[in-house]
Amino acid sequence: MNILITNAGQLITLKGPAKVRTGKKADELSIIENGAVAIKGEKILAVGTTEEIEANYNSDKIIDASNKVVMPGFVDPHTHPVFVHTRENEFEMRIKGKSYVDISKSGGGIRSSIKAVREASEDELYELSEKRIKRMISNGTTTLEAKSGYGLSTESEIKMLKVIRKLNENLPIDIIPTFMGAHEFPIEYKYDREEYIRILKKEMMPEVKKQDLAEYCDIFTEEHVYNIQQSRYILNCAKELGFKIRMHADEIEPIGGAELAAELGAVSADHLGAASDVGIQALSKAGVIATLLPGTIFSLGMKSYARARDMIDAGVAVALATDYNPGSCNCDSMQFIITLACLQMKMTVAEAITASTINAAYSLEMGDRIGSLEIGKQADILIMDMPSYKFLPYHFGSNNVQTVIKNGKVIWCN
Ligand code: NIG
Ligand code: FE
Repeated sequence: MNILITNAGQLITLKGPAKVRTGKKADELSIIENGAVAIKGEKILAVGTTEEIEANYNSDKIIDASNKVVMPGFVDPHTHPVFVHTRENEFEMRIKGKSYVDISKSGGGIRSSIKAVREASEDELYELSEKRIKRMISNGTTTLEAKSGYGLSTESEIKMLKVIRKLNENLPIDIIPTFMGAHEFPIEYKYDREEYIRILKKEMMPEVKKQDLAEYCDIFTEEHVYNIQQSRYILNCAKELGFKIRMHADEIEPIGGAELAAELGAVSADHLGAASDVGIQALSKAGVIATLLPGTIFSLGMKSYARARDMIDAGVAVALATDYNPGSCNCDSMQFIITLACLQMKMTVAEAITASTINAAYSLEMGDRIGSLEIGKQADILIMDMPSYKFLPYHFGSNNVQTVIKNGKVIWCN
C-alpha cells in the first residue's frame, strides 16, 4: 500500500550524516515546512514539500497532517518491561525520605521483584508485559529495547527472554532483547557472590547465547551491586561469548563505570548521573553512546541529573530512554522524558528530539534503518497534534501523539 502524509506544518526529518549526531549536529532537525512523506510498503519512498510529493507520487491513501508535526517514531533504548507487580509502596517510602539504596538493602528493590517472576508462567508474564508495551506504543514508541533481569536464575532469565521474543513477534513494533542476569545478586547468593558470577559465566550466558535470545548483555555496575572488578570480569566473559555490551554505569556513585564502558567498547553506557569528567572524556574518545535516563532521577526524587550539556560539549553522542521499570521509574512516555531532558538537563528541544530518535536508534545499532525520515528507511512515523516541535516538552503530562505508523502501517490512532 502506498500512503502519502501531506501538509505537515513541520516535517521533522532529522536528515543528516549516517551516524550519531554529536556537538552542533545534535541540535539540527532538518525541518521541512508544509512537508510530505511518500510511503511504499514498509519503507519511505520520498520526503519533500507537499507540492513536490503530490506532483510526483500517487497513493492509495492520503493522510492530511495540516497543523500537525510529523516526525520519526520514538526509539526507547533502555527498558525493563517484563515483571509481575509494580512497587508503588517504594515510591511512597522515598517520598518519606528513604533512598533507593536503603530500600533495596532492607528487602525491597530489584530483589523484591524476583520471587513473583520466578513463580509466574510465561503466559502470565507475557500478558502483563504486552499491556505495558501497548501503552508505550500509544505514547509514540516504535522501537524499544527490553531487558531480562528479574529472574536471576537460568530458568527464569530464559523465561523472561522468551517472553521478550514473543512480544517482538506479536506486537507491531521492534523489540530488541538484552540479557541482564547481572541486575542484582539473588538473595540465595547474598553471601556467595562469586558463586553467582560463576553461574552467570558457566550456565546462564552460554544458555542465552545457545538459544539466541539476546543481542546485548547489560549489568548494574554500582558499589552495592556489581563493583568494577566484577563488572569487568562478567562483561569480558559476555564479549567472549559474542554479546555486545550495554551498562548501567555511574548512576549513583562515580565508581568508574563510564571509564569501564569505554575500556570495553560498550555500545552504550546508561544513567551516568554521577559520571566523572574523566569518564565523560573516555566515553567521547571511545565513541560510547551516553543513554541518559532523567525519568529515573526524577522518580527517585534526586537532583543528580546526568550532565548532558558537558557530555554534548565533550563530543559524546547523547540518547534518551525511559528506563521503564517497576522500581526506579514507572514511566512509559518518551514525551515526558523529553520534557525532563529539556528542563532538568538543559538540552535544547532539538537535542532532546535527536536523542530520542536518531541517536537512540544508534544506541541500538539500528541507525541505518530507523530514527530519521529519509529515503529507504523504515516508515516509522508519528503524527503529533502540535503546532511546532517546540510544543512537545512544553505540553507535558498528556499525550501529544495523534497517529503512530510502524513499517508503513497505522498501528495506533487517537
Ligand atoms: O535501571 N538500575 C537498575 N535497574 C533499574 C531499577 C530496577 C528496579 O528497581 O526494579 C534501573 O533503574
Ligand atoms: Fe535500567
